[in-house]
Amino acid sequence: MERKKIVVVGSSNIDMVARVHHLPKPGETVGNARFLQAFGGKGANQAVAAARLGGTVDFVTSLGNDMFADALTEHFTKNCIGVSHIHRSTENPTGTALIFVADNAENCIAVSPGANAELTPDYLEKFKETFDDAAIVVMQAEIPYETICRVAEYAHRKGVKVLFNPAPACHIDDSLFKIIDILVVNETEAEYVSGLNLMEYGIPLLAQNLLNKGVKAVVMTLGVQGAYLATPDECGLVPSYKVTAVDTTGAGDTFCGALAVGSAEGDLNINHLRFACAAAALSVTQEGAQPSIPLRDEVLAFMENH
Ligand code: RIB
Repeated sequence: MERKKIVVVGSSNIDMVARVHHLPKPGETVGNARFLQAFGGKGANQAVAAARLGGTVDFVTSLGNDMFADALTEHFTKNCIGVSHIHRSTENPTGTALIFVADNAENCIAVSPGANAELTPDYLEKFKETFDDAAIVVMQAEIPYETICRVAEYAHRKGVKVLFNPAPACHIDDSLFKIIDILVVNETEAEYVSGLNLMEYGIPLLAQNLLNKGVKAVVMTLGVQGAYLATPDECGLVPSYKVTAVDTTGAGDTFCGALAVGSAEGDLNINHLRFACAAAALSVTQEGAQPSIPLRDEVLAFMENH
């Protein structure tokens, strides 16, 4: 049987966003902010992106004991995402992200994990059958690190590819490096997980350092410069698409979701990065993490016109 299913194991948040002229400095109050609320969380964003971009997705997450849990479950279902492995906390609220987005589209984010912290290694017992027909598991770092390791080990044993996006940046043990098939990092995360300075080493050497740790493919997202792929057989830079950015929140997640769709269908290659760059470019032209994630046809049309 051909396996194409994407299992995303990760966080769900409610994003509380203040649109501000500029990001506040420590001690500064920035007035006249415009408030908006949207569904977010790196796991949920990547699950929604993978589903809108053509993937078959099962989402494993933990929601709170509040009104957001039903709304999120309905939203995931509307996006054709499998919701049968979602945990409902009786003790914690749904995760919350406090986000500032400036006029120049840059952001800064603080996350309160809430129910996301309940996605413990033991919970794997409740959803491990989803890996029986999965092609790839996709994880980020807004759930406990022990869970990421346990899921990666299990998926690897089952022949399921492991895509890990260590965001927010986190330490990665040697044993985890060795079972990651695709590591997706931005510049900050690349420096953090390698312990190397990007200016000093440059992109190719830093990526090679990560390959030497046992990762099978490294993808570095480089903002307006595009994205870089490094595997033992292929290296290359995909330039970014030029767009007018209004909000970069969730662009990296859209990229990861798009990459997961390509990787679920076959070996990762440079064309998958082109598709992911196009999806991420479209996402920054709209506000909000999940509201801005495009559909597959929109991305394909955009690629044809650019
Ligand atoms: O990557 C963007 C996401 O980071 C936001 O949606 C927010 O919830 C935080 O998790």
